[in-house]
Parts: sequence; structure tokens; C-alpha cells
Amino acid sequence: MQRFQRMLEARGLGHITAGPIDDSPTPDEPGHPEYHRRQRIGLAVSRWKTATPYRYQQAVAAHPQVTAWADRAVEDPRTAGILFLTGPFGTGKTHEAYGALRRIAETGPDRYEVIALTAPDMYALMRPGGSDHGPEYEVRRLMRIPLLLIDDLGTEKISEFTEEATYRLLNERYNECRPLIITSNLPVDSRDRDGAKRGTDLHDQLGARITSRLAQTTTVVVIGGNDRRLGVA
Ligand SMILES: Nc1ncnc2c1ncn2[C@@H]1O[C@H](COP(=O)(O)OP(=O)(O)OP(=O)(O)O)[C@@H](O)[C@H]1O
Ligand SMILES: [Mg+2]
Repeated sequence: MQRFQRMLEARGLGHITAGPIDDSPTPDEPGHPEYHRRQRIGLAVSRWKTATPYRYQQAVAAHPQVTAWADRAVEDPRTAGILFLTGPFGTGKTHEAYGALRRIAETGPDRYEVIALTAPDMYALMRPGGSDHGPEYEVRRLMRIPLLLIDDLGTEKISEFTEEATYRLLNERYNECRPLIITSNLPVDSRDRDGAKRGTDLHDQLGARITSRLAQTTTVVVIGGNDRRLGVA
């Protein structure tokens, strides 16, 4: 060893000494936790982009109750329950919903699988002949996907068949405690404390079997303000 050191000194390389080599990965290299976290974020955000319509590609959740729900869905998806965004047309419900899904993606979860669709598209898939795979396959896919967004629920009265499929879907997600985001122009229940009706609600459109499932595990967030599409927000 000393001969080797003298040889190095003779060549003007005396500053080089033998010692442990640090070959542990840097954050830019596979094997480092930060590298893998960044990879997971990249994959999740690209899945989010694929699931998100062009209009909402810049969506960022800003409402404190929405960001709190998204954070819960990251911490423990089974306790997040349903996020129900309600309010008048154009106030930003769909924007907040996609923003919540983005917020979850940006944490780089181990598993990020999401389906986002409007309620009319969901009913179209569930109708007999509405999908190549058949309604049963579609209902099961929507039951099992870790994250689901149903946009614009309650826009139409549904048939007995789609009511049954919607009930099964919500009941299964409710039983398995899988997170779900719903946006709607209607409140779940428009009755006031005295039981008097204050207009149409989801109860009228979807029936009690479905809305009682919604009532229990739901974080209701009213997105108020003006119609942003009119440019007065
Ligand atoms: N926080 C925001 N920042 C910028 N643009 C926004 C924001 N919220 C909503 N918008 C824009 O305002 C418009 C209306 O928002 P959005 O579609 O989310 O409303 P909505 O409440 O879902 O309406 P509807 O009940 O008709 O479905 C969209 O073009 C959306 O991109
Ligand atoms: Mg909307």
C-alpha cells in the first residue's frame, strides 16, 4: 500500500488516497427513493392528463374543503368517502373536481388509477349495447377503479335499469370505502329543517336508495359565486 502511495506521489497524484467509495445512488438515479417518487409522480400526472378533458388540463383545486378531501384521499383512501360538489352552473365544480384528482396525482401515489366521466356518458355505457364489453363489465370497472369522478350527476331522470346499475355502483364503492367525487347542480336533499322541499334535488332524480348512500359518507362542498363562463366571476 505504501509503495502504491509513493508511486502516486511520484506521478504528482499524492492527493489521491484509498478510501471507501460512495456509490450510493443520487436522487437522479434508480435506487434512490426520490428518483422513484419522481417516477411515480410522472406516471400519475400523465394518467391524470389522459383522463382530463382539455378545458380542465390547468385545473388546480383551490377550495380548502376540496384540498382537504384530496389530502385525506392520499393519507387514507378508505376514510375519504365521497366528495360532493354542488352549486349553480359555471361556478367551477368540474374545475375543482379535476383539480382534486391532480392534487392526488402530484403526491406520487403507489397506485394511481382513475376514471372520470359525465353521468350521461356513464349511463350510456351502462345501457345494454352501450359498450363492447357489456354493461356488467362497465359497472364492475367503475366499482373497482381506485378513483372515480362522476361529473354532472342528476341532469336527467334515469331508467329503472340505470338506477339499478347506479345503485350497485355507489353501494359497492360505499361498502368498500373507495373514494368518489361527484359534481351536481342539485343538492342531495333540498328539504329544510322542517322537512319542506326547497326545489328539485338528487333524491327526486335518483331515488332514496341512492341518495341515502350519498348522505352518510359525503363531504358536501357548495361552490358558489357567479357563472365563470359569463366572465363575471
Ligand atoms: N378556479 C378557476 N380558475 C380558472 N378558471 C376556472 C376556475 N374555475 C372554473 N374555471 C373555468 O370556468 C368555467 C366554468 O367552470 P366549470 O366548468 O368547472 O363549472 P361547473 O360548476 O362545473 O359548471 P356546470 O354546473 O355547468 O357543469 C370553465 O371554463 C372553467 O375552466
Ligand atoms: Mg361541470
